[in-house]
Amino acid sequence: MHLEIDADRLMAELDTLATFSEVEPPAVTRVVFSDTDLRARRYVKSLCSEAGLSIREDAVGNTFARWPGTQEALPAAATGSHIDAIPHAGRFDGTVGVLGGLEAIRALQRSGFRPRRSIELIVFTAEEPTRFGIGCLGSRMMSGSLEDTADQNLRDNEGRTLREFRNAAGFTASLFGVRLRQGHYSAFIELHIEQGPLLEREGLSIGLVSSIAAPASLRIWIDGEGGHAGAMLMPDRHDAFLAAAELALALETAVKATGVIDTVGTTGVCEVFPGAINSVPSRVRIEMDVRDVDVTRRNGVIAAVARASQEISHRRGVSIRTEMLNSDPPAQCAPELLDALSAACRKHSIGSQQMVSRAYHDSLFMARIAPVAMVFIPCRNGVSHRPDEFASKEAIAQGTLVLAEALAAVAV
Ligand code: HGY
Ligand code: MN
Ligand code: MN
Repeated sequence: MHLEIDADRLMAELDTLATFSEVEPPAVTRVVFSDTDLRARRYVKSLCSEAGLSIREDAVGNTFARWPGTQEALPAAATGSHIDAIPHAGRFDGTVGVLGGLEAIRALQRSGFRPRRSIELIVFTAEEPTRFGIGCLGSRMMSGSLEDTADQNLRDNEGRTLREFRNAAGFTASLFGVRLRQGHYSAFIELHIEQGPLLEREGLSIGLVSSIAAPASLRIWIDGEGGHAGAMLMPDRHDAFLAAAELALALETAVKATGVIDTVGTTGVCEVFPGAINSVPSRVRIEMDVRDVDVTRRNGVIAAVARASQEISHRRGVSIRTEMLNSDPPAQCAPELLDALSAACRKHSIGSQQMVSRAYHDSLFMARIAPVAMVFIPCRNGVSHRPDEFASKEAIAQGTLVLAEALAAVAV
């Protein structure tokens, strides 16, 4: 089988997909169920239809484009990723796995390959936590990792529920049908940019992900006592923002205290109320993201933050309430899929190495219902979730070629 990747077409499609954005290029903002997200979904579905794939969407908007195999009854092999993008992000996070997955299927079609197992391209709903505060919403539901009550419980900053958004987008069926049973897929392989610097530093073209780090996120409210920025004397203050600032620094201290490079922590959201220059902050909402490949070590950081909360609350006379948004275990990738990917790299003399993914991906949850593996390609300076995120045409084409070979190997 001789496979040719049409890199020019793939890059043109990535460029078109990047135009569905709420901000000026090169930044991309495409939040789930926004108008730009719905238009981007229509664009991707049109490309899948052109490739002769049959399309279905589930009740939360996960989209499945299927290339029927000769033995349709067998569990399909799958690939895919996400097209939603956090505010002011780049154009390659997720989209390389969706459009690269489509091009891998088209390359197999052009080569005359006929899969025994069907091959499905999945576009997952809401891999990013932007709208509802929890990442991988679609793959969590597919893997039974999120209760259907999320339909009413998950809300955006204005209090609108997941059900309101999905219904308005035309997804009105019961969530009951979203969950897929173990064994529904024989394999899931996701192509993604590394979002870190290691492949570029090592001069390697392909990363074969052996495990995906365990993410946890917390939403913390700090309630102090507001007042006049001029007239309120310092000894009388219970400044909610200063308590939040100490808590963010306590997270950094706890993360660094593990002494392990795999432990990371970020306080990425901070909302100050009332948010006036001449008013002492009375309430602050912060959100923390804590990850590690070792879940015990990660949980140790969260426990340290809880202890710091108690001490800060007592010393500063503020109340602190913490809500755990998610606390997920890590995922191990399937050795047999890593072997198929290694063989694909060797066949094309492409340098590769096994590595950990510190970013989470839909593969983290697909691993609960199927064997998974991920193919990483380098991104310039390891930058991601920024407008200057960049992956070269050569890297994207190589990742797509390796994915296509591996899909052929697992779809026989
Ligand atoms: O945050 C992550 O790891 C992913 O990019 N959503
Ligand atoms: Mn992302
Ligand atoms: Mn991603």
